[in-house]
Amino acid sequence: MNVEWGEKFKTGIGWLDAQHSELIEAFSRLVAAMDAGEGGVETIKIIKFLERYVVYHFASEERAMQETLYPGTVEHKALHLTFRNMIMSFKRDLDARGASYYLTIQARNALVEWLSIHICGEDKKLSKYLIEKGYSDTPPPE
Ligand SMILES: [Fe+2]
Ligand SMILES: [Fe+2]
Repeated sequence: MNVEWGEKFKTGIGWLDAQHSELIEAFSRLVAAMDAGEGGVETIKIIKFLERYVVYHFASEERAMQETLYPGTVEHKALHLTFRNMIMSFKRDLDARGASYYLTIQARNALVEWLSIHICGEDKKLSKYLIEKGYSDTPPPE
């Protein structure tokens, strides 16, 4: 299973692509570590990264939605919340029991699904709308 940053993930919005590519790079490191039999160490790193990432990345997208009155805001935010809760439960599991093969697999599967379904689906829908609203070259909304 190999995922690389590339055309299929691109939304055409600079800040959004930059943030998504960070996630894809983190995911690739996890997969490479798993292949090398060192998934545990990378699982700790990626869960800590995701804890921060879901805060700033979702905040950027949600501010853009708000500023442009995106019609799918409620549904999109609900998906973010579900994913964020899942990351928080991974973190609780990590704190309670440490890294495990089970947690590594769970994190990997969650990311595979998120990259293919959320980024390629919902985020592309959002970015298409943002581009129509003239958001293609702006910095991340603060
Ligand atoms: Fe996103
Ligand atoms: Fe999103």
